[in-house]
Amino acid sequence: MKKYYHIITYGCQMNVHESEKIAGILCGLGYENTEEINSADIVVFNTCCIRENAENHAFGNIGMLKKLKAAKRDMIIAVGGCLTQQMGKAENLHSKFPYVDIIFGTHNLNKLGEMILQKKSRKKAVIEIEDSEGIICEEDKPFRTSYPNAWINITYGCNNFCSYCIVPYVRGRERSRKSENIIEEARSLIAGGYKEITLLGQNVNSFANGTEDISFPELLNKIASIDGKFRIRFMTSHPKDFSEELAQVIAGNSKICKAVHLPVQSGSNAVLRAMNRKYTREDYLKKIEILKKYIPDCAITTDLIVGFPGETEEDFNDTLTLVEKVGYASAFTFVYSRREGTVAAKMPEQIPEEISKRRIMKLIELVNLQTRVMSSKYVGKMVEVLCEGVDEKTQKYLGRDEYGRMVYFDSPTPVIGEFLTVRIDKANGISLFGEVTGD
Ligand code: 5AD
Ligand code: SF4
Repeated sequence: MKKYYHIITYGCQMNVHESEKIAGILCGLGYENTEEINSADIVVFNTCCIRENAENHAFGNIGMLKKLKAAKRDMIIAVGGCLTQQMGKAENLHSKFPYVDIIFGTHNLNKLGEMILQKKSRKKAVIEIEDSEGIICEEDKPFRTSYPNAWINITYGCNNFCSYCIVPYVRGRERSRKSENIIEEARSLIAGGYKEITLLGQNVNSFANGTEDISFPELLNKIASIDGKFRIRFMTSHPKDFSEELAQVIAGNSKICKAVHLPVQSGSNAVLRAMNRKYTREDYLKKIEILKKYIPDCAITTDLIVGFPGETEEDFNDTLTLVEKVGYASAFTFVYSRREGTVAAKMPEQIPEEISKRRIMKLIELVNLQTRVMSSKYVGKMVEVLCEGVDEKTQKYLGRDEYGRMVYFDSPTPVIGEFLTVRIDKANGISLFGEVTGD
């Protein structure tokens, strides 16, 4: 009889790729994917705790499974990811949701298979959270779900301790995989037909820092020299480690997408200092200048936080003027979320919700305006799109150009995984609509 798994993923691309690793483990145990939670034999929640709403969302959904579990006692419920790795959260989850069978953390995801077998032979829940910070697992066999793109982890963890951020506490210290393993993985994925490789790390720029291995720009060059037509993307870059050499490598290599995600968080020096970001507004703008010097058409994107403790109207204005100055292709905007255990959580001047809400609305308005203006400039142009799939709503094909813009188009033949030239006829917010041309 067939057995099915259903995975629910919260948070970032890093988690999406980790869910592929979880899926790989489950496939190895003979499970198959189902989109239908009611028919699953095992449900895995891959959680995120970076902001409170992601956490609440996961808690809410785990709570909703109580009835299903009561009706299907053999169904296994497993909860893993950043949330469980937080101090005391695993115990908290277990007492709140005693029907959860397995709780695992970020450092022992690779042991999920053993934990499932263990659970099958006993009644009690299996709860294992490891504190180990040095783990790099090279044994993963991810079940990839994002063809034609393939995610590759290059670093794990983070050493930066931005004062608002929980990541260093739940993902451990920064550690890099060996470049030879990364290059080999990229080579075999490209040989297997993947057309886009996205290198993942909390701070890819500090890849191999303090070791004898090659630097991040050198790694990019090596991957770009693999034969075949494919694209390379990477995320995320910390501005303090973003180098001129990296800008040169992107500019000099057509396989590396001209799209850089460079999270600034705030445009105010006082707030940047309190955030422990280790650069000033001026430092950041200087890096943007270098980036634009080498790659004038680079699509720069960012992350922004409003309502950080102590943020004044003037500080917020500095963020608005910085956004105006840089001209982002798009930006992720967040209201500061107080995370227990971080330095900022103890700061006395937490900002009232209504002020943060007003600020974020204003910021979103500005970012959207910039995005619309940039999108409209594409109309009439030809862009090369890598087709990624079919949009459920419009039933059109969708894909991205090298700048990361989503393009929707029709095609009479199946084109997923192909590079196509598309003439852009219409822009709507961040999305572009066009027609495939003959060449
Ligand atoms: N509150 C709001 N946003 C946060 N981020 C990280 N921690 C927090 C927090 N406590 C945002 C940052 C980061 C992105 C991944 O999430 O902008 O770059
Ligand atoms: Fe968090 Fe800062 Fe590390 Fe990014 S660089 S993961 S924001 S601590």
